Formats: sequence, structure tokens, C-alpha cells
Amino acid sequence: MEQMVFHEKPVQEIAQSCNGEIPEKFIHKNGYPQSKVDSVSLMDDFIIDLSLLSSSSPEADHELAKLHLALTQWGCFQAINHGMTSEFLDQVREVTKIFFALPLDEKKKYWRVISDWDGYGNDTVVSENQTLDWLDRLYLTVYPEDQRKLKYWPENPLVFREVIHEYTLKLRAMYELLMKAMARSLKLEENCFLKEYGDLVIMAMRFNFYPPCPTPESVLGVKPHADGTAITMLLQDKEVEGLQVLKDNQWFRVPIVPDALFINVGDLLEIMSNGILKSPVHRVVTNTERDRISVAVFTFSDPDREIGPITGLITNDNPQMYKRVKHYENVFFEYYQQGKRPLHAVKM
Ligand code: OGA
Ligand code: NI
Repeated sequence: MEQMVFHEKPVQEIAQSCNGEIPEKFIHKNGYPQSKVDSVSLMDDFIIDLSLLSSSSPEADHELAKLHLALTQWGCFQAINHGMTSEFLDQVREVTKIFFALPLDEKKKYWRVISDWDGYGNDTVVSENQTLDWLDRLYLTVYPEDQRKLKYWPENPLVFREVIHEYTLKLRAMYELLMKAMARSLKLEENCFLKEYGDLVIMAMRFNFYPPCPTPESVLGVKPHADGTAITMLLQDKEVEGLQVLKDNQWFRVPIVPDALFINVGDLLEIMSNGILKSPVHRVVTNTERDRISVAVFTFSDPDREIGPITGLITNDNPQMYKRVKHYENVFFEYYQQGKRPLHAVKM
């Protein structure tokens, strides 16, 4: 059994006091990650208009076809016309920035205890020799409401809880709309993914803060990974780029589309779709100049529930690719720690 090591100091604080000397454990060796932003090309611009998806019209069919292409080739896209105003999205970004700008002592009131996922701190639970990510995060279970741990919910800024509550409800609705649209894009009954995933959807919100880093060529904001969710809905920083996705062994920058949410398929939806919808590997690079924030919302199912490929997607040409899985989070973290893809553990 490997020992769990918690990195006890916020990266924000390390960044302020390190004078250009990054602690060893953040540094990727052997020329990796080659993360210079300007040497990586921009990914294709898949912008999907959510207001078109649920109607039945020629425009809807066109949008569903675009969604199908985006999810089978890249596993991600930018969602616009989602019913949230840019002022509201700015408010979500703003409460995030205000929280991370609080004095350290105040943020530490929300410091995670070791037995919890929720709370403020460094994200990584790692083995001795794992390279650490250059970010701090606040992780909150936001849905269903009775699973919230309010002691970790900031009260400063004053509107934090109210804004995040409203944002949660919007994303709960968006999750359902997207799961239906994705099923329809595969010519399936629209509720099939929702039914397979179950009525209990657990949503967690991860507020990420990436301080500037003096050596971005050897330090990553987040290591390459795929998400262990059905889908992830990400609000990006409006000005500072950093997210990259891997396709055909090449990294691509995700562009900033100010009012869009970046949506990506997670491993559990790749499993449910029997490998047709791709859960993309992605990472976050650092830069020397500016802070970056993002807000990621993950959609988990009841951990005791068994989830597997939809029957209609298992055919002679496309035989069952993944086993049915339970407690995927355990597989996920075990593999993540070893730098391996958890999905490989559940292949047939
Ligand atoms: C994540 C993630 C991307 C970002 O939190 O899983 O991939 O841009 N975040 O912060
Ligand atoms: Ni991710």
C-alpha cells in the first residue's frame, strides 16, 4: 500500500514565495510536458447551439449532426445559448476570483480534512513519486442539496452561496438536456443514458486557481487525465487560456469562447456509449504572466450503481467494449496515481 501524501501548502503561497525556484515535486522530467502554448495548434471550433437541440426542425437535425461529429472525434465542444446570461457567468467567475483572493487565513477555514473530498486545498492525493499539479482548488459537492457540506462553502463573498446554488440548478438542467441530445445524436431513445445512469446524479463543482508559474515548460496546471464522470461542464477563464485536449497523439489548445461552457464526455459516458463517444484526455498548461481560474462541474452517479454499455449500441460490428462497472471512482484514483488510463482497466 502506498502512503498517501498531502501537500500541505497552497500553490498560490508557493508561487508568491519561491523566487523562481519551483519545488522538485512539481517538475516534470525528460523534456515533458513541452507545454509552450504557442507551439500547439488550436482545436477545431465546435460550437453547439443548445437552444436548437431539443426542437424537431431541420436546424435541430443539423445541430445534432454537428454534436455527433464533435463527440465521436474530439469528445468535447463549446455550448452556447444555454440560457445563462454573460453577466451571470461573469458573476460565477467573480465569486471564484474573490474567494481565491481572500487572505490565506480566511481560506484555510475551508481547508479540507483528509477524510473528505470537499474543501479547499491542493487537489492531489498522490504517491511519493507523483508529480504535483500547479493549482489550488475548492471542491464542493453541490447536488443533491442534502449532500452539501456547508462548512466548506465560503461565506465571503456574501453572494457566493446564492450564486453557486443558482448555477448548480442551471447545470442540473443542462446535464439532462445534453444527455438527451447525445442519445438522440446516436439515434437512440432520448432517455437511455439518463436511465442507465440512474435518478441519483451527484454533481461536484471544482473551482480551480492556477497561479503564474516561472517555468511553464516543465510544470503543468493539471496532468493529462480524462474525467471519471458522465459529462463535465467547464466555465473557463475569460482571458487566460490553458486547457488542451489530446487527439491522435497531438495536443490542441481549447479556445476561449467567452459565453460558452466547454463540455466534455467523461469515462462513464464513453462506457455507456460502448466506446462511440470519446472521453478525451486533457491537461492544463501554466504561464508566467497571469492567474487563471476555471470552474468544472462533474456529474457522478450513485457509486453503488452498476453502469455499462447501452444494449442498443452493442452489435456484431461493435461488440461490447467495456465491462459493467461499479465504484468507478476507486479504479479511477488507483490508475490515475500510476499515470495510467482508468478506462483500460474496465475493457472487455
Ligand atoms: C478538471 C479539468 C480544466 C481547466 O478540473 O478536471 O480538466 O481548464 N480542468 O481547469
Ligand atoms: Ni478534467
